[in-house]
Amino acid sequence: MERVLVTGGAGYVGSTCVARLLSRGFAVDVVDDLSAGHADAVPTGAALHCFDIGNRRALSDLLSSKKFDVVFHFAAKALIPESVRNPGVFFDVNVASGIAMLETLRKHGIGKFVFSSTAAVYGDPLTVSIAEDHPKNPVNSYGESKLMFEQILRWYVSAYDWSVVAFRYFNASGGASEWGERHDPETHIIPLLLQTASGRRSKFEIYGTDYPTPDGTCLRDYVHVIDIAEAHILAMKKLDTSGFHVYNIGTGTSHSVQEVWRISQEVAARNIPAQSSARRLGDPAVLCANPTRLTEDLGWKPAHSDLRDIIRGAWDWEKVQHSQAEFGMKAAER
Ligand SMILES: NC(=O)c1ccc[n+]([C@@H]2O[C@H](COP(=O)([O-])OP(=O)(O)OC[C@H]3O[C@@H](n4cnc5c(N)ncnc54)[C@H](O)[C@@H]3O)[C@@H](O)[C@H]2O)c1
Repeated sequence: MERVLVTGGAGYVGSTCVARLLSRGFAVDVVDDLSAGHADAVPTGAALHCFDIGNRRALSDLLSSKKFDVVFHFAAKALIPESVRNPGVFFDVNVASGIAMLETLRKHGIGKFVFSSTAAVYGDPLTVSIAEDHPKNPVNSYGESKLMFEQILRWYVSAYDWSVVAFRYFNASGGASEWGERHDPETHIIPLLLQTASGRRSKFEIYGTDYPTPDGTCLRDYVHVIDIAEAHILAMKKLDTSGFHVYNIGTGTSHSVQEVWRISQEVAARNIPAQSSARRLGDPAVLCANPTRLTEDLGWKPAHSDLRDIIRGAWDWEKVQHSQAEFGMKAAER
């Protein structure tokens, strides 16, 4: 049985990937410092090792205790507004700690690696549909840190014969009653809308209604986290020979903020109060993947990424979160 080391496996995308790996019969160990993740998000069957990826001693001890075939690297600082305010932390975790981890893996002879990169490496798009060879001009330190780490990995491939797949995700989304997005602070549109629908927030903010798009709001490409997890599993076949492979993960279809708002109201069957405000710095009008390389090369299909289905699953999750929050408040009152 192949054993996969998943960093950041207590987070949103990583924990979904762990569940898919376990269901396919892989053995999984998670390294997560729980700085943004949740121990209870780690699926049963995976061992959680709670330490920082930059902790060479702890990682080395783990790698000596078990033989790992592949590493899936999700652990990162990933909140864009924070990356604008505090870039140092992003380079520290996403680059410096990442290098400490790579060097430890190298000393233990592990060279099969899948990296969670991001569409933020492209910056303001020059074309509507973004292919992997689109120029890279990140507009925040988050995107820059991910691009730097991609470049570092290219050197590991050329010098040490590693096999690396880097995935540039567009908008990861979706959930189910048992699992879903739990970021703090939450900055992603679907959970923000649904938390407003459940009453956990008072209103939803629409940043910019004067974009050059059909309804004036931004367009984004929403891809279900299960489809992201499936891409990771498909990627394993690329890891038998050395090389650096980069793929976008997105559907190739984009939806406006207005549309996501409307469908969220339909799914939740209630009004979601919203308010228009000014554009945010660094928010491009349209972000849409060209996923041709991923579909042709790995046979990937966005089977779970219909927007209404994504929102339905996320709403199931939000209903559970809302009742747990209410239960917690009632218990505190007693
Ligand atoms: N969610 C998205 O829409 C999206 C889009 C593009 C790329 N990504 C990338 O996907 C990955 C996962 O994103 P997510 O939304 O699941 O984020 P998340 O914050 O839910 O998960 C990240 C996990 O990494 C852990 N972590 C952070 N720093 C660590 C460290 N130094 N050592 C050990 N663990 C650490 C956190 O505790 C958390 O559990 C990230 O690399 C992110 O950049 C996410």
